Amino acid sequence: MDLTLHVWRQAGPDEPGRMATYVDEARDISPDMSFLEMLDIVNERLIAKGEDPIAFEHDCREGICGSCGMMINGQAHGPQKGTATCQLHMRKFADGDELFIEPWRARAFPVLRDLIVDRQAFDRIIEAGGYITAPTGAAPDANLILVPKEAADAAMDAAACIGCGACVAACPNSAAQLFTAAKIQHLNLLPQGQAERYTRTKAMVDTMEEFFGSCTNHAECQEACPKEISIDFIAYMNRDYVKAQIKNRKLTGQAAS
Ligand code: SF4
Ligand code: FES
Repeated sequence: MDLTLHVWRQAGPDEPGRMATYVDEARDISPDMSFLEMLDIVNERLIAKGEDPIAFEHDCREGICGSCGMMINGQAHGPQKGTATCQLHMRKFADGDELFIEPWRARAFPVLRDLIVDRQAFDRIIEAGGYITAPTGAAPDANLILVPKEAADAAMDAAACIGCGACVAACPNSAAQLFTAAKIQHLNLLPQGQAERYTRTKAMVDTMEEFFGSCTNHAECQEACPKEISIDFIAYMNRDYVKAQIKNRKLTGQAAS
Protein backbone atom coordinates (compact mmCIF):
# COMPACT_ATOMS: atom_id res chain seq x y z
CA MET A 1 0.00 0.00 0.00
CA ASP A 2 1.14 3.55 -0.73
CA LEU A 3 -0.21 6.13 1.67
CA THR A 4 -0.06 9.86 2.23
CA LEU A 5 0.32 10.73 5.91
CA HIS A 6 -0.38 14.09 7.48
CA VAL A 7 1.09 13.95 10.98
CA TRP A 8 1.04 16.49 13.82
CA ARG A 9 4.63 17.48 14.61
CA GLN A 10 5.38 19.51 17.73
CA ALA A 11 8.86 19.67 19.22
CA GLY A 12 7.72 20.35 22.80
CA PRO A 13 4.85 21.49 25.03
CA ASP A 14 5.55 25.18 24.44
CA GLU A 15 6.51 24.90 20.78
CA PRO A 16 4.09 25.62 17.94
CA GLY A 17 2.80 22.51 16.15
CA ARG A 18 2.02 21.88 12.47
CA MET A 19 0.86 19.09 10.19
CA ALA A 20 3.75 17.54 8.21
CA THR A 21 3.09 15.48 5.08
CA TYR A 22 4.91 12.20 4.36
CA VAL A 23 4.57 10.40 1.02
CA ASP A 24 7.85 8.60 0.21
CA GLU A 25 8.20 7.39 3.79
CA ALA A 26 4.75 5.75 3.66
CA ARG A 27 5.21 3.64 0.52
CA ASP A 28 5.15 -0.18 0.31
CA ILE A 29 3.25 -0.64 3.54
CA SER A 30 2.01 -4.19 4.15
CA PRO A 31 -1.72 -4.49 4.88
CA ASP A 32 -0.76 -7.05 7.55
CA MET A 33 1.16 -4.48 9.58
CA SER A 34 -0.39 -2.92 12.64
CA PHE A 35 -0.85 0.85 12.59
CA LEU A 36 2.10 1.26 14.97
CA GLU A 37 4.29 -1.00 12.84
CA MET A 38 3.47 1.27 9.90
CA LEU A 39 4.65 4.25 12.00
CA ASP A 40 7.79 2.27 12.93
CA ILE A 41 8.60 1.88 9.21
CA VAL A 42 7.98 5.58 8.58
CA ASN A 43 10.26 6.42 11.53
CA GLU A 44 13.06 4.14 10.27
CA ARG A 45 12.91 5.94 6.94
CA LEU A 46 12.90 9.37 8.63
CA ILE A 47 15.93 8.40 10.75
CA ALA A 48 17.74 7.13 7.62
CA LYS A 49 17.20 10.59 6.10
CA GLY A 50 18.57 12.26 9.24
CA GLU A 51 15.17 13.58 10.33
CA ASP A 52 13.49 13.36 13.75
CA PRO A 53 11.22 10.32 14.09
CA ILE A 54 7.54 10.85 14.97
CA ALA A 55 7.15 10.58 18.75
CA PHE A 56 4.25 8.35 19.80
CA GLU A 57 3.53 6.43 22.97
CA HIS A 58 3.26 2.64 23.10
CA ASP A 59 4.08 -0.22 25.41
CA CYS A 60 2.10 -3.47 25.30
CA ARG A 61 0.98 -3.26 21.65
CA GLU A 62 -1.90 -5.60 22.50
CA GLY A 63 -4.64 -3.29 23.78
CA ILE A 64 -3.80 -3.54 27.48
CA CYS A 65 -1.67 -0.61 28.62
CA GLY A 66 -3.69 2.29 27.16
CA SER A 67 -0.69 4.33 26.07
CA CYS A 68 -1.03 4.30 22.27
CA GLY A 69 -3.99 6.60 21.68
CA MET A 70 -4.07 9.00 18.74
CA MET A 71 -6.65 10.55 16.44
CA ILE A 72 -6.76 8.91 13.00
CA ASN A 73 -8.83 10.79 10.46
CA GLY A 74 -10.64 12.52 13.31
CA GLN A 75 -11.55 9.31 15.15
CA ALA A 76 -10.02 8.33 18.47
CA HIS A 77 -8.06 5.07 17.87
CA GLY A 78 -9.17 5.11 14.22
CA PRO A 79 -12.09 3.61 12.32
CA GLN A 80 -12.46 0.15 13.93
CA LYS A 81 -14.86 -0.09 16.86
CA GLY A 82 -13.61 -1.62 20.10
CA THR A 83 -9.98 -1.44 18.97
CA ALA A 84 -6.96 0.39 20.37
CA THR A 85 -4.55 1.98 17.87
CA CYS A 86 -1.99 -0.79 18.41
CA GLN A 87 -4.59 -3.44 17.48
CA LEU A 88 -5.62 -1.66 14.28
CA HIS A 89 -4.28 -3.20 11.07
CA MET A 90 -3.42 -1.42 7.85
CA ARG A 91 -5.84 -3.65 5.92
CA LYS A 92 -8.56 -1.44 7.42
CA PHE A 93 -7.33 1.23 5.00
CA ALA A 94 -7.02 1.24 1.19
CA ASP A 95 -4.06 1.72 -1.11
CA GLY A 96 -3.73 5.44 -1.89
CA ASP A 97 -5.49 6.58 1.30
CA GLU A 98 -4.66 9.89 2.90
CA LEU A 99 -4.46 9.67 6.70
CA PHE A 100 -4.52 12.54 9.18
CA ILE A 101 -2.81 11.55 12.45
CA GLU A 102 -3.04 13.83 15.49
CA PRO A 103 -2.66 13.64 19.28
CA TRP A 104 -5.66 13.71 21.62
CA ARG A 105 -7.13 17.20 21.64
CA ALA A 106 -8.22 18.19 25.18
CA ARG A 107 -7.10 20.98 27.50
CA ALA A 108 -6.50 18.46 30.31
CA PHE A 109 -4.14 16.47 28.02
CA PRO A 110 -1.47 18.97 26.85
CA VAL A 111 0.76 17.83 24.00
CA LEU A 112 4.26 16.87 25.17
CA ARG A 113 5.69 16.05 21.75
CA ASP A 114 4.16 15.10 18.37
CA LEU A 115 1.47 12.49 19.18
CA ILE A 116 2.27 12.16 22.90
CA VAL A 117 0.03 13.91 25.44
CA ASP A 118 0.32 14.27 29.21
CA ARG A 119 -2.47 12.22 30.84
CA GLN A 120 -1.50 12.99 34.45
CA ALA A 121 -4.97 14.43 35.09
CA PHE A 122 -6.20 10.80 35.03
CA ASP A 123 -3.63 9.95 37.72
CA ARG A 124 -5.02 12.73 39.94
CA ILE A 125 -8.49 11.12 39.73
CA ILE A 126 -7.12 7.68 40.67
CA GLU A 127 -5.11 9.17 43.54
CA ALA A 128 -8.32 10.71 44.92
CA GLY A 129 -9.88 7.28 45.61
CA GLY A 130 -9.33 4.64 42.96
CA TYR A 131 -8.12 2.03 45.43
CA ILE A 132 -9.11 0.04 48.54
CA THR A 133 -7.22 0.98 51.70
CA ALA A 134 -7.89 -2.21 53.72
CA PRO A 135 -4.67 -4.17 54.29
CA THR A 136 -5.17 -7.25 52.15
CA GLY A 137 -2.40 -9.49 53.48
CA ALA A 138 -2.01 -12.81 51.73
CA ALA A 139 -4.49 -13.80 49.02
CA PRO A 140 -7.66 -15.08 50.78
CA ASP A 141 -9.60 -18.13 49.67
CA ALA A 142 -11.66 -17.24 46.62
CA ASN A 143 -14.91 -18.17 48.38
CA LEU A 144 -14.26 -16.14 51.55
CA ILE A 145 -16.33 -13.16 50.37
CA LEU A 146 -19.24 -14.22 48.17
CA VAL A 147 -19.79 -11.95 45.17
CA PRO A 148 -23.04 -12.12 43.19
CA LYS A 149 -22.35 -13.21 39.59
CA GLU A 150 -24.04 -10.11 38.12
CA ALA A 151 -21.91 -7.81 40.30
CA ALA A 152 -18.72 -9.68 39.42
CA ASP A 153 -19.51 -9.47 35.69
CA ALA A 154 -20.35 -5.76 35.82
CA ALA A 155 -17.26 -4.95 37.91
CA MET A 156 -15.13 -6.89 35.42
CA ASP A 157 -16.62 -4.92 32.51
CA ALA A 158 -15.71 -1.64 34.28
CA ALA A 159 -12.25 -2.93 35.16
CA ALA A 160 -11.54 -3.36 31.44
CA CYS A 161 -10.78 0.39 31.23
CA ILE A 162 -7.16 0.83 30.13
CA GLY A 163 -7.02 4.57 30.86
CA CYS A 164 -6.25 5.48 27.27
CA GLY A 165 -8.17 8.77 27.22
CA ALA A 166 -10.10 8.15 23.98
CA CYS A 167 -13.34 8.93 25.83
CA VAL A 168 -12.04 12.41 26.65
CA ALA A 169 -10.66 12.95 23.15
CA ALA A 170 -13.96 11.95 21.52
CA CYS A 171 -16.17 14.04 23.80
CA PRO A 172 -17.15 17.51 22.53
CA ASN A 173 -16.82 18.71 26.16
CA SER A 174 -13.55 16.84 26.87
CA ALA A 175 -15.37 15.16 29.75
CA ALA A 176 -13.84 12.23 31.62
CA GLN A 177 -17.07 10.72 32.95
CA LEU A 178 -16.62 7.32 31.29
CA PHE A 179 -13.08 6.83 32.60
CA THR A 180 -13.99 8.05 36.10
CA ALA A 181 -17.18 5.98 36.21
CA ALA A 182 -15.30 2.83 35.16
CA LYS A 183 -12.60 3.39 37.78
CA ILE A 184 -15.18 4.06 40.51
CA GLN A 185 -17.62 1.29 39.66
CA HIS A 186 -15.16 -1.58 39.36
CA LEU A 187 -14.67 -1.02 43.10
CA ASN A 188 -18.15 0.22 44.12
CA LEU A 189 -19.88 -2.84 42.65
CA LEU A 190 -17.93 -5.31 44.78
CA PRO A 191 -18.36 -6.12 48.51
CA GLN A 192 -14.72 -5.18 49.12
CA GLY A 193 -15.38 -1.68 47.79
CA GLN A 194 -18.32 -0.81 50.04
CA ALA A 195 -16.46 0.66 53.04
CA GLU A 196 -15.15 3.60 50.98
CA ARG A 197 -17.91 3.67 48.35
CA TYR A 198 -19.25 7.17 49.00
CA THR A 199 -16.07 8.94 50.07
CA ARG A 200 -14.36 7.43 46.99
CA THR A 201 -17.14 8.55 44.65
CA LYS A 202 -17.21 12.12 45.94
CA ALA A 203 -13.42 12.53 45.94
CA MET A 204 -12.95 11.10 42.44
CA VAL A 205 -15.84 13.02 40.86
CA ASP A 206 -14.76 16.29 42.51
CA THR A 207 -11.19 15.77 41.25
CA MET A 208 -12.48 14.96 37.77
CA GLU A 209 -14.42 18.25 37.74
CA GLU A 210 -11.18 20.17 38.44
CA PHE A 211 -9.63 19.05 35.16
CA PHE A 212 -12.32 18.02 32.69
CA GLY A 213 -15.50 19.31 31.10
CA SER A 214 -19.02 18.22 32.02
CA CYS A 215 -21.01 15.37 30.52
CA THR A 216 -23.98 16.34 28.33
CA ASN A 217 -24.87 12.80 27.24
CA HIS A 218 -23.47 12.78 23.70
CA ALA A 219 -22.25 9.18 24.25
CA GLU A 220 -19.29 9.71 21.92
CA CYS A 221 -17.10 8.27 24.71
CA GLN A 222 -18.82 4.88 24.51
CA GLU A 223 -18.40 4.83 20.71
CA ALA A 224 -14.67 5.63 20.92
CA CYS A 225 -13.81 3.37 23.85
CA PRO A 226 -11.55 0.49 22.73
CA LYS A 227 -12.95 -1.61 25.59
CA GLU A 228 -16.58 -0.73 24.70
CA ILE A 229 -17.34 0.39 28.24
CA SER A 230 -21.01 1.29 28.60
CA ILE A 231 -22.27 4.75 29.56
CA ASP A 232 -24.52 2.89 32.03
CA PHE A 233 -21.54 3.16 34.40
CA ILE A 234 -21.87 6.96 34.26
CA ALA A 235 -25.47 6.58 35.47
CA TYR A 236 -24.28 4.36 38.36
CA MET A 237 -21.60 6.92 39.21
CA ASN A 238 -24.12 9.79 39.20
CA ARG A 239 -26.43 7.76 41.46
CA ASP A 240 -23.61 7.11 43.92
CA TYR A 241 -22.52 10.76 43.79
CA VAL A 242 -26.02 11.97 44.74
CA LYS A 243 -26.18 9.40 47.56
CA ALA A 244 -22.70 10.45 48.68
CA GLN A 245 -23.89 14.00 49.38
CA ILE A 246 -26.11 12.59 52.16
CA LYS A 247 -24.13 9.56 53.30
CA ASN A 248 -20.89 11.48 53.79
CA ARG A 249 -22.68 14.17 55.86
CA LYS A 250 -24.18 11.42 58.04
CA LEU A 251 -20.74 9.93 58.59
CA THR A 252 -19.40 13.28 59.83
CA GLY A 253 -22.49 13.94 62.04
CA GLN A 254 -23.71 16.87 59.95
CA ALA A 255 -27.03 15.40 58.89
CA ALA A 256 -30.10 15.27 61.15
CA SER A 257 -30.66 11.56 60.45
S1 SF4 B 1 -13.27 4.42 29.46
FE1 SF4 B 1 -12.56 3.49 27.52
S2 SF4 B 1 -11.90 5.24 26.29
FE2 SF4 B 1 -11.99 5.97 28.42
S3 SF4 B 1 -9.94 5.67 29.26
FE3 SF4 B 1 -11.11 3.79 29.76
S4 SF4 B 1 -10.68 2.39 28.03
FE4 SF4 B 1 -10.06 4.45 27.33
S1 FES C 1 0.30 -0.02 23.15
FE1 FES C 1 -0.73 -0.73 24.94
S2 FES C 1 -2.84 -0.43 24.48
FE2 FES C 1 -1.83 0.10 22.63
